[in-house]
Amino acid sequence: MDAIRITGGVPLDGEIAVQGSKNAALPLMAAAVLNKGVTVLFGCPRISDVFSMEEVLRSLGARTRWEQDALILDTGPMDQVKVKRELGEKMRSSIVLLGSLLGRFGEAVLPYPGGCVIGQRPVDLHLAALEKLGARFYEEDGMLHAKAQRLAGGEICFAKPSVGATQNAVLGAVCAPGRTVIRGCSREPEVTWLCRFLNLAGGRIRGIGTDCLKIQGVPSLHDTGMQIPADRIAAGTYVCASAVTRGRGILRNAPVGEMGALLHVYEKMGGQYAFNSGKLSLCSCGVKNPVRGLRTQVYPGFPTDLQSVLVAVLATVKGESCVEETIFEDRFKAVPELVRMGADITVCRSTAHIRGRDLSGARVCARELRGGAALVVAGLAAEGETCVENRHFIERGYEDICRDLSLLGACIRKD
Ligand code: EPZ
Repeated sequence: MDAIRITGGVPLDGEIAVQGSKNAALPLMAAAVLNKGVTVLFGCPRISDVFSMEEVLRSLGARTRWEQDALILDTGPMDQVKVKRELGEKMRSSIVLLGSLLGRFGEAVLPYPGGCVIGQRPVDLHLAALEKLGARFYEEDGMLHAKAQRLAGGEICFAKPSVGATQNAVLGAVCAPGRTVIRGCSREPEVTWLCRFLNLAGGRIRGIGTDCLKIQGVPSLHDTGMQIPADRIAAGTYVCASAVTRGRGILRNAPVGEMGALLHVYEKMGGQYAFNSGKLSLCSCGVKNPVRGLRTQVYPGFPTDLQSVLVAVLATVKGESCVEETIFEDRFKAVPELVRMGADITVCRSTAHIRGRDLSGARVCARELRGGAALVVAGLAAEGETCVENRHFIERGYEDICRDLSLLGACIRKD
C-alpha cells in the first residue's frame, strides 16, 4: 500500500541526522544548467521531487549519477529546451528551470505549472521579472514558451515577495551581460543558498540575505561542488513530533540559525531546547501552553510550510489556539482529516481556531506534502493506530519519515 501506520502515545526520545533541504536542492539543480560542465551536490536528499528534477534534466540531455549521498550533474551535453508535459506536470517546481534555460539557451518551453491543493500558484511574478531582462512569453496548448535574443541586465522590483520568482530572476541575471538590480527579493534561506552557490561557481552577486540583490553578469559559470544545507522544514517537523508526544529528541546538524520562528513558538508552548556542537536537544515534557495570534509570514517569520504541522501539535494542547495562514490561500487541507482523529478545529477565512483535546487513531488521507506530515505528527499522539494514506505526497519532501521517526523512538512503519 501507499500508506504509513503509526501507533500513538509513545514519547519520542532518540537521535537523528537532519536530511538535506528539498527547497535548497531543487534551485541548485536548476542552477547547474548554467554551468556547461559538472556540478556536485553533496548531501542531496533522496526524495521524489529531486528524482523528478533529475528526470527532467536528463530529458534535456544532461547526465546525472549518484555517489553515496552526492548527486553529480553533467549538463555539458544538454541540447534541449522543451520540458515534456508529463515530466513538468509531475512537479510544479520545474518552473525554476525557466531562468537558467533562458540564461543558457535563450529559450525554454515548460508545461504551464498548474495550481495545487494549497492554492492557485500563479507565475506572473516570474514572468514579469524575466521580461525585465529581455524575455518574451506566450502560451500555446497549455505550454509556456519563453524566448530571449540574449538576456541582458536590468532593473526588477517585485510587487510582492516570491521565493521562486526571486530565484528565477537571479538565475536569469547571473550570466546576463550588464548589471541587474532586484528589489523586493524574498530573503528565505533557499534564496541565500542559491546566491552563495552561484558565487562559488563564479557568479558576482552582492546583497545576499537582503531584499535587494545586485548582480554583475559573468560570461559563464565553472564546475563546483556544494554541500546541500540541512532542511529547516524537515527539522521543524521533527521538533513538532517531539512536542506532540511530550518527549525528547536530538537533531544532528539542525539549521537552528534558520529555525528561529519555530523554536520561539516551541518555547512559548513550553518546550525547552539547547544547541551544542551541532546538536539540537529537545525537551517537550513541559509542552502545555496554547498559542494565540500566530501568523505565517515570509522569512524570518513563521514558515507557511510548518503551519499544518504546528496545527497538529496545537490540536493536542488544552486551551484555545489560533493560527492565521497569510501566504497561501488554501493551506488548511489537513484540518478535515485531523477532525476525523477527534481534533476540535474550525477554519474561519484564513484562520484556524483550535481547542486542544486527546486524539484517536483513524484512517486519514494526505492531500499534499506538509499536510501529510501533519497527519503523521498527529498520529504520534493519537490513542491507538493511525493509517495515513497517500504516502507518496510525503515522500516528495521527506527522505524517509518512517526511518527518522523510528530512530526517534516512534512506533511507525510503511504499509
Ligand atoms: C516556495 O514555493 C517553496 N517551494 C514552498 O514550499 C514554500 O511554501 C513557498 O516558497 C513559500 O515559502 C520550493 O521552494 C520548491 P512563492 P514558491 O512564490 O516559490 C504567490 C513545500 O511544501 N505568487 O514564495 O512557489 C503564491 O501564490 C513547498 O516545500 C504569486 O502570486 O512560493 C503564494 O501565495 C510548498 N505570483 C505566494 O506568492 C507568482 O508569480 C508565495 O509564493 C508567484 C507566487
